[in-house]
Amino acid sequence: MDVNLEPDFLRVTERAAIAAARTMGYGDRKHSDRIAVEAMRHEMDTLAINGQIVIGEGERDKAPMLYVGEKVGADKDGALGYPEIDIAVDPLEGTNLCATGSNNAIAVLAAASKGGLLYAPDIYMQKIVVGPTARGCIDIDAPVKDNLANIAKAFERDVEDLTVVVLERARHEQLISEIRAAGARVKLISDGDLSGGMSTAIRGTGIHALMGIGGAPEGVITAAAIRCLHGEMYGRLVVLEDWHRRRLDEIGITDYDHVYTERELASADDALFVASGVTKGDLLEGVRLFGGGVRVSSVIMSLATRTVRFIDSVYMEEDGILEVMR
Ligand code: FBP
Repeated sequence: MDVNLEPDFLRVTERAAIAAARTMGYGDRKHSDRIAVEAMRHEMDTLAINGQIVIGEGERDKAPMLYVGEKVGADKDGALGYPEIDIAVDPLEGTNLCATGSNNAIAVLAAASKGGLLYAPDIYMQKIVVGPTARGCIDIDAPVKDNLANIAKAFERDVEDLTVVVLERARHEQLISEIRAAGARVKLISDGDLSGGMSTAIRGTGIHALMGIGGAPEGVITAAAIRCLHGEMYGRLVVLEDWHRRRLDEIGITDYDHVYTERELASADDALFVASGVTKGDLLEGVRLFGGGVRVSSVIMSLATRTVRFIDSVYMEEDGILEVMR
């Protein structure tokens, strides 16, 4: 994928984050999501790509925009010869977080050349994620205490000095008790396991692992970030209902129990990951409105250029038009 597209994709998440942030605390998660989707969709069409949404807002009949299979970009029919790009989007990851003004809502996407991201359906995925220090130390099928002991060893510290992020859900009661019984600390989050997963691979966040079941689409986008950050991730789809099986059959996934690595979830060697903060978070600042302009913080990670850049943009508002100043 052309690395010159990186600033363009950055603009896409920035615009979605700014739009969503203007609805922060309104208490209407669907409205916040719709605003973010519209902003992302609008900006996406300015990109010199022949793009396709592979992970988006759901099926075409349920989502008017950024639905799975939707063509995006300035060259939808391929007439201009622009590159074919697959895009996984989560215009507002943490819709409740934005609606309640809570921390860690982000606008996020992953992009790669065609076929480079798993076309995961909107079902759950069991996940375990660690950063580069603990690479090679985890096994999704191992007892929690063994994984924690191995992670602690990699960090040359006691299990008691580890912090594990887990979504606060009834389905995680046993997982949480096992983590506590092993002695590690637990950071329960109400939403946003994508940010939680990414945090494991960035020093200074104080997060050493993410465990539990969250969305499979978020899992694929997390994998793109984890590859860029040299972390490690395993994910297994949670297949419970007939429609899950039907959907997987359509996609061509036949081994429902397969354990995916981060490389299988985001296989492209040119994968790009971009996230912009909507509300204040552990990694990114939230959008700040200062009258006459806005400031937005983002991270852009590229496997092609082997870079991780934290970017702070100020858009000055002039005659109702936002102009970028970096
Ligand atoms: P939304 O942004 O769609 O609200 O999803 C937030 C989220 O918490 C994800 O981070 C997570 O993967 C998923 O929902 C968990 O799903 P559930 O709320 O059904 O447990």
